[in-house]
Amino acid sequence: MDRRALIAGAAALTLSTPACAAYPPGLPPLKSVSTYPLGVAVRHLHLSDPDWARLAVTNFSQLTAEWEMKMEYMLRDDGSLQFDRADALAAFARTYGMKVHGHTLVWYAQDGLHFQKLKGTPDAFLNAYVAYIQKVTGRYGGIVRGWDVVNEPIWNDGRGLRPCLWREVLGDDYIGLAFEAAHQADPAAVLFLNDYNLELTPAKRTTFLKLCERLLKEGAPLHGIGTQAHISADLNPAAMIVAIRDIASLGLQVHISELDISLRGDRLTNVVKPRLDQLKVFEAVIRAYNDVPARQRYGLTVWSLRDKDSWLNSKRERKGPIADAPVLFDDRGRPKAMAERFVEMVR
Ligand code: G3I
Repeated sequence: MDRRALIAGAAALTLSTPACAAYPPGLPPLKSVSTYPLGVAVRHLHLSDPDWARLAVTNFSQLTAEWEMKMEYMLRDDGSLQFDRADALAAFARTYGMKVHGHTLVWYAQDGLHFQKLKGTPDAFLNAYVAYIQKVTGRYGGIVRGWDVVNEPIWNDGRGLRPCLWREVLGDDYIGLAFEAAHQADPAAVLFLNDYNLELTPAKRTTFLKLCERLLKEGAPLHGIGTQAHISADLNPAAMIVAIRDIASLGLQVHISELDISLRGDRLTNVVKPRLDQLKVFEAVIRAYNDVPARQRYGLTVWSLRDKDSWLNSKRERKGPIADAPVLFDDRGRPKAMAERFVEMVR
């Protein structure tokens, strides 16, 4: 058991009722009214923040590691694995009866020196690829409900599969191979293909869904679709409704896997959009997901607990002096209009 997580958790338990000053009267914990698992992204450093722990444990039933369950963190250059922070996250979830969504096993954006060194030996590369997936997936059986087995496989304009090291060495079948390996390691896990801009770019969504259909036809153990929903306040709300309906039409589990609604519009113009637009877009997300058949609603995950925790306010992503406010709780952990609207709308 990770000592820091235990201490934080103890603080969370002793302070499990939200400080009344921070909460509007009568707003119930979000997970208590949700009809599906409600998730939040977490980084290891959050586990030792009592304010974070109390707010997350009170309102959410599932955690997604924002970073520490990815290859970028877990795979060392010599091929060995470091599970310390992922184990701490799993321990925290067990302590508070939460589930974990595993993110992510295979991603074009992260391959690491260990695999780069095996590029010239495809058999060794394949063995290492399967071994990595099975060691990670197998370790968290029972606490990880589902995995983003492959993340962001499609070009952003929808022209086809992205080039990546996995595809270069193993061919297009790198995706099916990953799903087979994960399923063998944890037959109970719900296995997802996860991508972004599926609401913003219909051509990408079409290509993505065709890939899902091909995988199913080939017998891949694909159980669900993760639509990240990193969206902006200037998204046409109707686009969200159409996208979720399209995605749900395959009959698979649907995970709104990384929801945040940037106030920075298309994030190029850096125009701060009025919060009203943000609320309209958020309402469209909840309305769209309410219309997904209950048996297909794997859950909705918000990509950070408080505005200040958001990747959009990290040094790398923040554009200019104005902080973004993309999620349901403000920097002090107070629920915002989106949190209140969630309680009003979820069914
Ligand atoms: O915390 C370490 C710090 O100790 C170390 O000194 C530093 C050295 O670079 O790294 C820090 O870790 C950073 C980590 O975020 C935690 O803050 C990593 O560099 C940085 O790469 C990592 O960025 C994450 C990014 O994915 C890449 O893994 C973001 O937090 C995370 O929000 C972002 O999430 C992605 C999803 O996985 C996929 N969908 C898009 C989404 C947003 O880009």
